[in-house]
Amino acid sequence: MFVLGLQGSPRRKGNSAYLLTALMEAMEGYGARTHVVEIERRHVEPCREYIVCEKKGFCPIDDDMKTEIYARIWQADVVVVASPIFFYNVTAQLKALIDRCQTLWARKYRLRLTDPGRPTRRGFLLSVAATRGKQLFDGVHLTVEYFFDAIGAQYEGGLTYRGIEHKGDMEKHSSVREDVRKAADRLTAPFRDRRVVLFAGRNNTGASRMAGAFTRFLAGDRWEALDAGIHPSDSPDPSVQKVMHERGIDMGFRNPGSLDHALERALPDRIIDLGAGGSIPEVPGARVQRWDLPAAAGLPEDRLTALRDEVEKRVREELASTDRNS
Ligand SMILES: Cc1cc2nc3c(=O)[nH]c(=O)nc-3n(C[C@H](O)[C@H](O)[C@H](O)COP(=O)(O)O)c2cc1C
Repeated sequence: MFVLGLQGSPRRKGNSAYLLTALMEAMEGYGARTHVVEIERRHVEPCREYIVCEKKGFCPIDDDMKTEIYARIWQADVVVVASPIFFYNVTAQLKALIDRCQTLWARKYRLRLTDPGRPTRRGFLLSVAATRGKQLFDGVHLTVEYFFDAIGAQYEGGLTYRGIEHKGDMEKHSSVREDVRKAADRLTAPFRDRRVVLFAGRNNTGASRMAGAFTRFLAGDRWEALDAGIHPSDSPDPSVQKVMHERGIDMGFRNPGSLDHALERALPDRIIDLGAGGSIPEVPGARVQRWDLPAAAGLPEDRLTALRDEVEKRVREELASTDRNS
């Protein structure tokens, strides 16, 4: 389970930072891997309305969104947004990141692609403000509701606190520790009992990549799907991306990964070997199975489409037989 925190406050060790750190630590206690992006300290440009994303599904602006943050959002099972209220909304730092997610909105609504994490991803808000008005959090709720929709996350509400102004105010709040513990329990519950499957290929550009995406899309509530290669390629295979896009599955913002990196993320209960051979490290308790499938590299389009369909069929059969036996 991977939890991404997006920290919108420019203030170091301020109130939203306290809340986000406390929630991340509590979620780690439930087995989550976490990562926080402090937007103020990163290079995130505002949207310039080039509208390239609406036609091509990517943003031409060269910054940390492109090199890292889109990918982290799509890896995440849970995205937590933290921001103080600035003039009834999120900070400019967080708003810049949100606006740049028009790219993910465009992939969903214009290009009609489904990110494999969409059926299971959750979104949560943490927010604080100095005053106490009834409508204080209305603006931020509306903004993050549409942000979570754009990134394919179900909005799970949030923790919001009034009358919090100076550094240190948040940690003095009487119920904050218990609120955070309950939120961590609730947000991690859907992911805690998932089994882990690793699809291990050679370069992690072909069948292993497709199998990971299909498993996350079809059964992300029951399985955490990892895919990796013994010699991961530097970049994805555009032909593989194309045939998956034709099937409606979005393969954007994902680079091939190594077996070591995958095994750091989670220890698999099941390993499916798609050409990694004897190089797969032994994982105690993991059942290893081999699928003999052709390498995707260089296949003509019709055979690549056939490979995609075969991978989908095997994933569906595997899921059905595991569900029957459990
Ligand atoms: C530019 C700016 C705008 C703010 N606007 C509001 C506001 O509209 N309503 C409010 O209650 N507090 C407002 N505040 C106060 C902050 O929300 C409050 O101090 C908060 O605790 C800061 O959280 P942080 O430590 O996470 O940055 C504003 C503060 C700043 C600096």
